[in-house]
Amino acid sequence: MATIIPVEDFDFVVFGATGDLTLRKLLPALYNRFRDGQFSKNCRIIAAARSDLTDEAYRERAAHALHEHVRADNLPAETLSTFLALIHYARVDGARTQGWEPLIHLFQSGPDRIRVFYLATSPSLYGPVCRNLKAQGLVTPKSRVVLEKPIGHDLASARQIIADVGEVFSEKQTYRIDHFLGKETVQNLLALRFANVIFERLWNADVIDHVQITVAETVGVESRGSYYDTSGALRDMVQNHLLQLLCLLAMEPPISLQADALRDEKLKVLRALRPIAPHEVNHLTVRGQYVAGAVAGKAVDGYLKDLSESIQGDGHVSDTETFVALKVEVRTWRWAKVPFYLRTGKRLPQKVSEVVIQFRDIPISVFPPEAAQMQANRLVIRLQPEEGIRLGMMTKDPGPGGLRLRPTELDVSFEEAFSIRYPDAYERLLMDTVRGNATLFMRRDEVEAAWLWVEPILDAWANSAERPKPYAAGSWGPTASIALIERDGRTWHEELG
Ligand code: BG6
Repeated sequence: MATIIPVEDFDFVVFGATGDLTLRKLLPALYNRFRDGQFSKNCRIIAAARSDLTDEAYRERAAHALHEHVRADNLPAETLSTFLALIHYARVDGARTQGWEPLIHLFQSGPDRIRVFYLATSPSLYGPVCRNLKAQGLVTPKSRVVLEKPIGHDLASARQIIADVGEVFSEKQTYRIDHFLGKETVQNLLALRFANVIFERLWNADVIDHVQITVAETVGVESRGSYYDTSGALRDMVQNHLLQLLCLLAMEPPISLQADALRDEKLKVLRALRPIAPHEVNHLTVRGQYVAGAVAGKAVDGYLKDLSESIQGDGHVSDTETFVALKVEVRTWRWAKVPFYLRTGKRLPQKVSEVVIQFRDIPISVFPPEAAQMQANRLVIRLQPEEGIRLGMMTKDPGPGGLRLRPTELDVSFEEAFSIRYPDAYERLLMDTVRGNATLFMRRDEVEAAWLWVEPILDAWANSAERPKPYAAGSWGPTASIALIERDGRTWHEELG
């Protein structure tokens, strides 16, 4: 049974309060935590943005967003109106040095308590907003800042942002969000590896042949064209989410779950990634861009058309990748010669995030070849949806007729095992920022190490005359992605395509 441990009273200030992230993710997450009784009516949510809105007008937008993103039976009118009353609106342009009075006014009196400044803005504003917060006297010892990914668009810009924010907030006060770390099933990787003896003993090159990480989405670029087109899948998904997953899978057991103990181990993995040299980029990476096709039986446009619609212009040419596949090596004794195959993309046939641990073949079969085609063990960890774990193994086919074998699965569906609502990743992470628990946030050296590894790939792509390879929306990416793994005599997990 889940127990809710209430957090101290706080003021939660969101910059970018009229944006998509706030309305789609942050407000619903705060609402759900409030409904569960995790924080009290004394807390305040201060929505800061440039639009000229009254408290009432913003609360209306918030209510609309909650109706859209929270299940109706979780929105009783009374709870909703109590929650909306916690929200205040402050018209502020975070990038400007003037016009901060509406926010200052809200902090003129009242207790000195935890202040969370959540920057749901473009990363280019992180430095200026922090500087302005300090200049306006709004940063107290109990304040902390939360930064959304991406932190910059390359190593240099990430370092600059980290330095600018660091002039105002100490590392301990800085929470760099990677929302994948807040997903229940991603945290479950820690439980699986370190709360069970049976996996950890086998978690190495002796018995593991290779690892696959797939994060597939069915959505296209949607309304985020202006951001996405400057980012692409490598920056948007791999530099953070997929590398963080890889860290949790590949790291050594941490000495505790204290923030730095865990982050030290993740950092070692990032530093052990074998750099991909420019001349290897064509061989070890695949980038794709979707063209028109069909997803779930529905015809959809290609990326360039989606982009023109999103940023309202015509005839766009873009080399931005909406799909990436990579073959990655972790140069440690544990993982020597065990490739990690990573792939992620938009407009793929299924929304699914999954890790496949493919074990090696048995060394020698004592069974006659006609008994069965042996299949090596495989552990499939489904992160979303239909969360669960499946272990493929060989068993005896029951009944007479000789010793025949067949593959079966030990199958644990979390949904069936635990009948509770899976909280959204942001719920856990937002409360962690209030509690001051940075375990599931990225430390500055992790962000830098990830950029350091990713950057040569970005550079090689930028210097290449080749465009991203086209793939039909609704397919599993360019055929080159299949070739990337099949060249090595392996295949992508077949249930995924
Ligand atoms: C975000 C990316 O960080 O993660 C999006 O910017 C992506 O492009 C999203 O769609 C995926 O998150 P989730 O929680 O839906 O798997």
